[in-house]
Amino acid sequence: MIPANRRGTQPRAGMEYFDARRKPHNIGKVIVALLFIALCIFVLKQSPGFGGNSVFSRHEPGVTHVLVTGGAGYIGSHASLRLLKDNYRVTIVDNLSRGNKGAVKVLQELFPEPGRLQFIYADLGDQKSVNKIFSENAFDAVMHFAAVAYVGESTMEPLRYYHNITSNTLLILEAMASHGVKTLIYSSTCATYGEPEKMPIIETTPQLPINPYGKAKKMAEDIILDFSKRTDMAVMILRYFNVIGSDPEGRLGEAPRPELREHGRISGACFDAALGVISGLKVKGIDYPTADGTCIRDYIDVTDLVDAHVKALNKAEPSRVGIYNVGTGRGRSVKEFVDACKQATGVDIKIEYLSRRPGDYAEVFSDPTKINSELNWTAQHTPI
Ligand SMILES: NC(=O)c1ccc[n+]([C@@H]2O[C@H](COP(=O)([O-])OP(=O)(O)OC[C@H]3O[C@@H](n4cnc5c(N)ncnc54)[C@H](O)[C@@H]3O)[C@@H](O)[C@H]2O)c1
Ligand SMILES: *[C@@H]1O[C@H](CO)[C@@H](O)[C@H](O)[C@H]1NC(C)=O
Ligand SMILES: *[C@@H]1O[C@H](CO)[C@@H](O)[C@H](O)[C@H]1NC(C)=O
Ligand SMILES: *[C@@H]1O[C@H](CO)[C@@H](O)[C@H](O)[C@H]1NC(C)=O
Repeated sequence: MIPANRRGTQPRAGMEYFDARRKPHNIGKVIVALLFIALCIFVLKQSPGFGGNSVFSRHEPGVTHVLVTGGAGYIGSHASLRLLKDNYRVTIVDNLSRGNKGAVKVLQELFPEPGRLQFIYADLGDQKSVNKIFSENAFDAVMHFAAVAYVGESTMEPLRYYHNITSNTLLILEAMASHGVKTLIYSSTCATYGEPEKMPIIETTPQLPINPYGKAKKMAEDIILDFSKRTDMAVMILRYFNVIGSDPEGRLGEAPRPELREHGRISGACFDAALGVISGLKVKGIDYPTADGTCIRDYIDVTDLVDAHVKALNKAEPSRVGIYNVGTGRGRSVKEFVDACKQATGVDIKIEYLSRRPGDYAEVFSDPTKINSELNWTAQHTPI
């Protein structure tokens, strides 16, 4: 604290005298500071990773630069790893609302060479940022993973889903159109089919989604399809079934925020239960018309899934839309999954059997014939 008598009591004249003496000195300091700032800007501009001047801003023959939205998330990080391994140039855009900075760090440590990977922290719902990113970078293709992706949450917070799925996809498309980026690989889901009467699900099975998540994805698909009719854009829409697994070398994984874990994806819950993070597993519904009474789903390993993305990217053609189910074609019951989980972890996990969860259907599995024959893709990691 400055004593009161030193604060406001100095004579005015004294102060002016004081100021006059200091001024020339200050100007000198300001000039030095300005020179320093100019030097900093110059150094920054020269360094790799700075917008306008970096390799990321130039198309390079033989190098495919892929924008991976949601690349800090579960699937996007695995896709980035695979793309980098295959010598693609990768830009990840993520606002870390759900993803993990740790995953990006792992990728940066694996691929430290300049011009391989850059991470941009931005919100895809912000049109200005999105436009800036597209004008400062020369993308050849976009893999659009960023989204919110929990069925249960979507029924409780529908606007969050329409906003962050449908509206953000529209913004990405607009930016692609105005910056001449002509290849899009889109993350869709079997939730767009709703509750089909006939199994397995083929790509022409009617899409009648029953929750805001599925509807928001279906709307995004429709926007992409309508737009693609008017342009020469190359589009691949991949409808994933239930994604499980992680990098076989253990460098990446699935690590949702604690508050999202209650929305439960079976793979995460299995490991959480084995580690004691949660007290056990809750199997919801044992009276379904299936062999053991529990639901049947088609579990696709994330390594296979990202392989489908790379194949889709390689087969993408201007003015063509490819829509593919990505699944194994084989259904597994929840009980089978739980048994596999116990076996894999060696932990005798406590299982609670509860009544059905609203909105679940007995049996969902894909027919992957189309992707097998057109993209020469098959799931390799089929045993759960
Ligand atoms: N996991 C599954 O079983 C499954 C099944 C079918 C489809 N999908 C789809 O796959 C995609 C990826 O899913 P995931 O399981 O990896 O989810 P995830 O939550 O792990 O990853 C999504 C990422 O997007 C980011 N993101 C979200 N909104 C953003 C925004 N506005 N701006 C910037 N970044 C934003 C998040 O921070 C997160 O890193 C999603 O489109 C999802 O709908 C997933
Ligand atoms: C991430 O993006 C969403 C919009 O999708 C926004 O509401 C949220 O505040 C952002 N979070 C951060 C940490 O920037
Ligand atoms: C999604 O959109 C809502 C607005 O509807 C926003 O509040 C939220 O933070 C957004 N982002 C995420 C990751 O949910
Ligand atoms: C399909 O993929 C397999 C490997 O998975 C490869 O051996 C085969 O040559 C491919 N076929 C075509 C037509 O590309």
